[in-house]
Amino acid sequence: MNHTTTYDQIFAQDVLQGLSSPQKSLPSKYFYDEKGDKLFQAIMALPEYYLTRTEYAILESYKDKILAPFIKTNQPFNLVELGAGNGLKTKILIRFLCDQKVEFTYFPIDISGNVLRELEDDLTEICPQLIVNSITGTYRNSLKDKIWNNGDQTLMLFLGSNYGNFLEEDAKELLQKITESLQPGDGLLMGFDLKKDPELILAAYNDVKGVTRDFNLNLLERINRELGANFVLDKFKHWPVYNPVSGECKSYLVSLEQQDVHLEALNKTFHFNKAEPIFTEVSKKYGLHDIADLSREKGFDVVNNFMDEEAFFSDSLWVKV
Ligand code: AVJ
Repeated sequence: MNHTTTYDQIFAQDVLQGLSSPQKSLPSKYFYDEKGDKLFQAIMALPEYYLTRTEYAILESYKDKILAPFIKTNQPFNLVELGAGNGLKTKILIRFLCDQKVEFTYFPIDISGNVLRELEDDLTEICPQLIVNSITGTYRNSLKDKIWNNGDQTLMLFLGSNYGNFLEEDAKELLQKITESLQPGDGLLMGFDLKKDPELILAAYNDVKGVTRDFNLNLLERINRELGANFVLDKFKHWPVYNPVSGECKSYLVSLEQQDVHLEALNKTFHFNKAEPIFTEVSKKYGLHDIADLSREKGFDVVNNFMDEEAFFSDSLWVKV
């Protein structure tokens, strides 16, 4: 690339901040470019990745109970979804509402415009009369703009353990923003991956086919592509670790040798020591008492924890007090 290339300055600044700190890190939201979207969809189909199929089964079993409080009013409502992705699981709820001729507007929010376009196309087939207002952006900006602010009751979805991608302080701040965006009586359906046998958790982030490794490494590839960097992927190792006390499954890319990487977008070289890790993602697992504490702290009543038989996963329905 030459000097006339324009780079995404926000991406560049986030990378600068992450790679300049003593404990190097990169924000996990940058996983989801076109290639990352495809890799994540492959992850969701992996035998080791129990999260998606478990949550799918929960929504299939309990869709009527989950949606009852929003149907019984016979008023149109807003279905807002943080991190909609390809909507695999949400389509269960949307199909059900459509069949029941419930009036609602769907606001899918995602960092990736690509998956949202796919989702819109799918939805015109599944539910032609549904009004879909897609929002491409971060959770933070979407909650600030709050374009669904029309006085109707809202059910906000935060499925797939997406909330688990935030470290404690950021997570609390995000949940505070969510709380502030809702009215008393509004619902929040949160998908929590539950604490379980650490071996099962670790395997979900270290599949034998190496799809999760490729997903993690795609972050470096994306920096190569979009910020003109020269990361050599073979020189970094995908390394997930699970801490059963905190419930945090953290993924790293560990530099296998001492090396320098140049970024044209920043006109800067970063040094990596041998065995130096880059922290790339947290996927936090919860206990049921953690969920209860969190909801109480933020001013919600827990209506129900909808779980699978093995209690691997919970879709927790909260209502703002
Ligand atoms: C999309 C955030 C729920 O943390 O389990 C999957 C992303 N990372 N494998 C997760 C992911 C590695 C996933 N979430």
